[in-house]
Amino acid sequence: MLPYVMLNTERLLLRPLIETDAETLYTIFSDAAVMRYWNTAPWEHVGEARDAIANDFEARRTGSYLQLGIEKNADAQLIGTCTLFNFNHQCRRAELGYALARSSWGRGFMHEALSALLDYAFAELNLHRIEAEIDPRNFASAKTLDRLGFLKEGHRRDRWMVSGEGSDSHLYGLLVGDRLSSARVDRPSGRPVRGLCAGRVNPVI
Ligand SMILES: CC(C)(COP(=O)(O)OP(=O)(O)OC[C@H]1O[C@@H](n2cnc3c(N)ncnc32)[C@H](O)[C@@H]1OP(=O)(O)O)[C@@H](O)C(=O)NCCC(=O)NCCS
Repeated sequence: MLPYVMLNTERLLLRPLIETDAETLYTIFSDAAVMRYWNTAPWEHVGEARDAIANDFEARRTGSYLQLGIEKNADAQLIGTCTLFNFNHQCRRAELGYALARSSWGRGFMHEALSALLDYAFAELNLHRIEAEIDPRNFASAKTLDRLGFLKEGHRRDRWMVSGEGSDSHLYGLLVGDRLSSARVDRPSGRPVRGLCAGRVNPVI
């Protein structure tokens, strides 16, 4: 069982998706630009959004993944999602996935959202290592990971086949100690990044 969690940042609220998010979620994940480097084709039916939201409830119950919607505080608009998945409890690791609506790119929203999620994952879920896998052509995603302190650890050739097109993967990793160092660089005062978790319940790992 994963906790029901809500995380606050300066401009964002990270919260579980709910049924009424389906249309907006579909708009985001049916956009070919957003899905250009995703590991599936763009969604074609709003039913895929409804299924994803229903699956989230079940995933939290079984502890298989934790997906949060990213909502802007300014207008309560859902602009994306971020997800911890492939938990390995013995090794205290998980993978990270994320996507933002095209209209919200380039304003540092994902950095802000993932900073909160990573701090939560390390501090509250007691993870030791978080991994990410991106298409090497996805420069914005690489920048996002670099800025969060991830290190590029490997390259896998033709790892994905989406709509008949093969693509390589760059593998990234972040250890809890890396995160503490990069958070210090990010914040010249060296203040720790806490006070983000508004709704945590039980630790799960
Ligand atoms: C990847 C993504 C999450 C980045 O989110 P974002 O909030 O726009 O990121 P930021 O505003 O923090 O920008 C990240 C960096 O990438 C840079 N960048 C943005 N677009 C870029 C591009 N096309 N080429 C190179 N750099 C780019 C920004 O200038 C910024 O650099 P900086 O930190 O030096 O200022 C967003 O582009 C997205 O959702 N893309 C589609 C889904 C996706 O690819 N998800 C990742 C799958 S692994």
